[in-house]
Amino acid sequence: MFMNDSLMRRVDDYKNTAEHNDKLHAEFSQLTQSIPFLAQHRKHIETYNLGFGDSAFHYMWYLLVQHLTKYFPQPSLLEIGVFKGQVISLWSLIAAQLALEISVTGISPLKGNPQPKSLWLYRLKAFTNPKFYQDSRSGNFYADEDYYSIISNLFTTFKLNLSDIRIIKGYSNSLPVINSIKNEKFCLIYIDGDHSYKGVVEDLKNYSNLLENNGLLVMDDASYYLPGRTFWKGHKTVSRACEIIPKLGLINILNIGHNRIYKKLNF
Ligand SMILES: C[S@@+](CC[C@H](N)C(=O)[O-])C[C@H]1O[C@@H](n2cnc3c(N)ncnc32)[C@H](O)[C@@H]1O
Repeated sequence: MFMNDSLMRRVDDYKNTAEHNDKLHAEFSQLTQSIPFLAQHRKHIETYNLGFGDSAFHYMWYLLVQHLTKYFPQPSLLEIGVFKGQVISLWSLIAAQLALEISVTGISPLKGNPQPKSLWLYRLKAFTNPKFYQDSRSGNFYADEDYYSIISNLFTTFKLNLSDIRIIKGYSNSLPVINSIKNEKFCLIYIDGDHSYKGVVEDLKNYSNLLENNGLLVMDDASYYLPGRTFWKGHKTVSRACEIIPKLGLINILNIGHNRIYKKLNF
């Protein structure tokens, strides 16, 4: 394991080639396994189907949380699309284990968007309802479950306090949610909610301006057009939407599998 590893070191060394992207993804997966609390958290998520993504991302978040606390006093982190709480609990766990102070906000509907069981109804809806068609193309379906209780149990399992987290219930593109947060600033925003092209563009336009200068944006499922052979690259819709990011004043500094990291330029 790299004893002096850091986000900046990885950024300085980064090359967006197939070889480097494959190597980084494999190395970060191994590094997740080398840190017992990261390995244990990821194993729990995989065993109980509590989230998506690759185990490499646990080590990525380990570097990111440390980076933020080095450059910002008590950094504020926002996740759009909390699902069952994998990432907000991981951020909290990393902070607790390393005695770092962070503040965490999540935006999520805390309910499902189930797809119809009947193939006939599925086809009919895909044909007649454009939003349903977009959801079907971008993997936007989730079972109806008691998401809040699932998140709460996950926090309890890792002896974390869910009351330290602010959860805003709703969809990121709804006006009440946007208005509730529009005067705030975040050091890191992680977008993993609506995966349709329109939904991602809306999130980017509505939330990238809430980033502090030098703050970081992490886009999930966004590497469809990147070189690499050994990892899942995410959705075409999300990856295409990310093409507007440079126009929003951010630059791509590092990619780990299908997670792309951008930095807001200091104007
Ligand atoms: C892929 S899952 C997120 C997985 C989670 N980030 C993780 O790493 O385990 C997407 C989540 O976003 C939610 N979602 C969909 N559209 C959303 C929106 N516009 N705003 C917030 N959440 C949204 C879904 O209900 C689902 O819980």
